[in-house]
Amino acid sequence: MDSCRFIKIFSTISLMVIGFATLRADDHLILHAQSWLVKDKSAQYDILSESYSKAPINFTNREEEIAYQIGEALFRTPIILGGQAAKARLSCNSCHLNGGDNKYFLFPNISGAAGTADVSNSFFSSFRGNQNFDPVIIPNLRKKGKIPVQDSQKLRIFIRGLIVEEFNGNEPSKATLDYLIIYLQKIAVKDVKDKSLEIKRTKLSVNDPIRMVEQIIDNIDYSVENNDENTAILLIAAIRHQMGLIYERYQHPILRETQKEILNSSNNLALISNLLRDNNPNDELYILYMKNWKNEFQSLRNRLIYNESKSLYSLNNLRSSLKI
Ligand code: HEC
Repeated sequence: MDSCRFIKIFSTISLMVIGFATLRADDHLILHAQSWLVKDKSAQYDILSESYSKAPINFTNREEEIAYQIGEALFRTPIILGGQAAKARLSCNSCHLNGGDNKYFLFPNISGAAGTADVSNSFFSSFRGNQNFDPVIIPNLRKKGKIPVQDSQKLRIFIRGLIVEEFNGNEPSKATLDYLIIYLQKIAVKDVKDKSLEIKRTKLSVNDPIRMVEQIIDNIDYSVENNDENTAILLIAAIRHQMGLIYERYQHPILRETQKEILNSSNNLALISNLLRDNNPNDELYILYMKNWKNEFQSLRNRLIYNESKSLYSLNNLRSSLKI
């Protein structure tokens, strides 16, 4: 590494540390996602209150629907990106919110103006990091872009490059790329004039991550049945990420017990993940652990819904916590 590059990386990291320290000191972060959003609290509220909205999608068969759902789960999970991005808890979805753009994305040293990012920044990658700071507008992946979305091969090369070279993530499996490709192909708007295909914007509720978790649970079983333990492990990470998002919204002092339950449940999933990581997973044990976990999640789910009004999924609470 030449010295200029080293200085750039070093100063980027120290600026990030200083940046976070000042953010913490005078501007307490309520939710982690604020660290990559503009400072304006009303703008933050817009993003933090947006549901996991989707446009209506037609599937040709159940297999395709499962593939889309797995793709969506991976798109929302930081571990896919690996490296610094995952450490900062960034996922594809942080920049491409619900597959769109994010006009309030502002990450220290990665963004220029709000809504832009330099994805070849050396903070993310030791491969493609270039010397120039050249942030560009984060594109809306639903709209026609540079890469023709139906060209699976081009998309595959692009996404792999993005993960491995731009974000320094682990080499994605063929299945991971297949799922991300199906997700991107399905969200791409085919007919811009067809209003029925537009996203119906609704406000976020705890039901969004709960539904996401429930959807992923079925797909973990599907992956295990198809001997794809690698995807099953990523999907467990996807659930644990959603549980982390729920956890930080249940931070009211009277919700401590609920928070503990979320943490326990997430830790129990980590055990199942370890079980799958064995070269020769014990199917019977997996089925037993998973069955217990699903029961446990059912009672947690009810408690979460019951307590939602005290959490930061209540938009009144969110607004007053942000002091707007
Ligand atoms: C830090 C923000 C950020 C993250 C995280 C991110 N992207 Fe992007 N993405 C961008 C930017 C900026 C561009 C435009 C790059 C360019 O034009 O050179 C882009 C471009 C793309 C494109 C090309 C769109 C076109 O114009 O055809 C695709 C597809 C894409 N991203 C998918 C993904 C996927 C999948 C992930 C997760 C694995 C991801 N992105 C993560 C910021 C991000």
